[in-house]
Amino acid sequence: MKKFYLTTPIYYVNAMPHVGHAYTTTVADVLARYHRLKGETVFFLTGTDENSQNNLKAAEKHGYKDLNLYLDDMAAKWRQTFGDLDITFDRFIRTTEADHKKGVEKFWRRVAATGDIYAGEYEGWYCDGCEGFKTEADLVEGKCPLHKTAPRRLKEKNYFFKLTKYRQALLDHIDAHPEFIMPEGRRNEVRSYVASFMEDVSISRQTVTVGIPVPDDPSSVIYVWFDALINYLTGIGYGTDDAKFAEFWPADLHLVGKDIIKFHCALWPAMLMSAGLPLPTQVFAHGFLLTGGDKMSKSLGNVVDPAELAKKYGNDPLRYFMLREVPFGSDGDFSVERIEERYGGDLANEFGNLLHRVLAMTEKYFDGKVPAAVDGQVPEWAAYEKGMATLDFAMVLDAVWTILREANKLIDTEKPWELAKTDRARLAGLLYSLLERLRQVGWMLLPILPTSAKKLFVQLGLPDEDKRPYDQAKVWGGLKEGGILKKGEPLFPRLTP
Ligand code: MSP
Repeated sequence: MKKFYLTTPIYYVNAMPHVGHAYTTTVADVLARYHRLKGETVFFLTGTDENSQNNLKAAEKHGYKDLNLYLDDMAAKWRQTFGDLDITFDRFIRTTEADHKKGVEKFWRRVAATGDIYAGEYEGWYCDGCEGFKTEADLVEGKCPLHKTAPRRLKEKNYFFKLTKYRQALLDHIDAHPEFIMPEGRRNEVRSYVASFMEDVSISRQTVTVGIPVPDDPSSVIYVWFDALINYLTGIGYGTDDAKFAEFWPADLHLVGKDIIKFHCALWPAMLMSAGLPLPTQVFAHGFLLTGGDKMSKSLGNVVDPAELAKKYGNDPLRYFMLREVPFGSDGDFSVERIEERYGGDLANEFGNLLHRVLAMTEKYFDGKVPAAVDGQVPEWAAYEKGMATLDFAMVLDAVWTILREANKLIDTEKPWELAKTDRARLAGLLYSLLERLRQVGWMLLPILPTSAKKLFVQLGLPDEDKRPYDQAKVWGGLKEGGILKKGEPLFPRLTP
């Protein structure tokens, strides 16, 4: 059976999740559900990046005496938020967990044995927010452009990773595997960084107290990024569960934000080459959700709580907004007004009302029973599947909404209320065809709007529909004559102000 291993970045826990974080995780969840539907063995990893000095500051700020208690509380809140958002992760990893630490140690020793770690002295500009050194060229008016704070000068003994040894191998890999870095614009950005700017990287810290100790040198801790990237291995058993690791590695997809692409497409593959491990198939970088033109971020103070939004609008509308409003890969504006417009228009009007009307007419004209089957097909599956495979969610949703819009148009042109008087056979065929299209739409929407799709199946009288094999479900004619429909509440009721 085919496997599909996908990951999100692991999140810093020095603040609560905002909609930007929910974005990556939601997209990952859509893909995880889609690949499960197709019968693949999916492993979906997400979690928290906890060995960061910033956490110590945050813990102190919030009155915690014990860093571990703070980490436990924050990790639990992140996990809870993702749970509330219906995220179906297979593991929520924390980098303070024992199996992760064990795997990181093993990985460090492996890279050291290859001869790729050397000791040296480092002096440079260090941004505490990024937990990384910055070159002069990275700074804007002397400040980190992301955190808008001035970096500090740092000089200490560090271990270095021979990143430059892998320059040519990385370029060769990028050129031979265009799908490795997506979208294409990001590939060019990484390629030029690897070719012209990439230097060896410091992978330990002496002045930092939080983190996994360097094996055989407890005076230093492992650089948080070196440790964090390894979560993609330890999350599936590297160093602790060889069988599971062999089953899932290499990753099929790392989803990341565009700000962390270099870590994932230069440092990470070089680390893997050094450790003698195969590279992930794809790293896909998405853009930022913006508020008022700026990246939504805790340091800029313009964040929106996803759990609040989900409570107000429901999880499905929030998921829909994220996939529909922002072309995947580009930046896009987040606004409550747009969520409400999408809710009222695409969801309530074009989808929810259609279902309601078709069920009401079948109730009225055929006692709420599925009429005899007629031929038909849904050609949009090809575009839908292509969109899912290429992470082009606009293509996916266009495919689904084409079906919905055509169905709405068909009602307008065929005028079933007139057919009821003139041509019952044609009316029966029309209603069957509309109901069957809705069943197929339900399948397409299962990964995207899981709650609504299941409600739709219940209303079509098929409460166990989602248990069917996907390939069978796509075949026209799944609804059987005489099936009893169960018209229920509208899928997207009017929002209360
Ligand atoms: N801990 C590192 C990742 C380590 S992965 C081995 C980190 N954490 S983070 O919490 O700062 O960011 C996690 C992810 O959230 C990143 O992919 C980042 O791009 C994403 N986002 C943070 N704010 C965002 C928006 N406003 N919009 C979209 N994604 C955003 O980096």
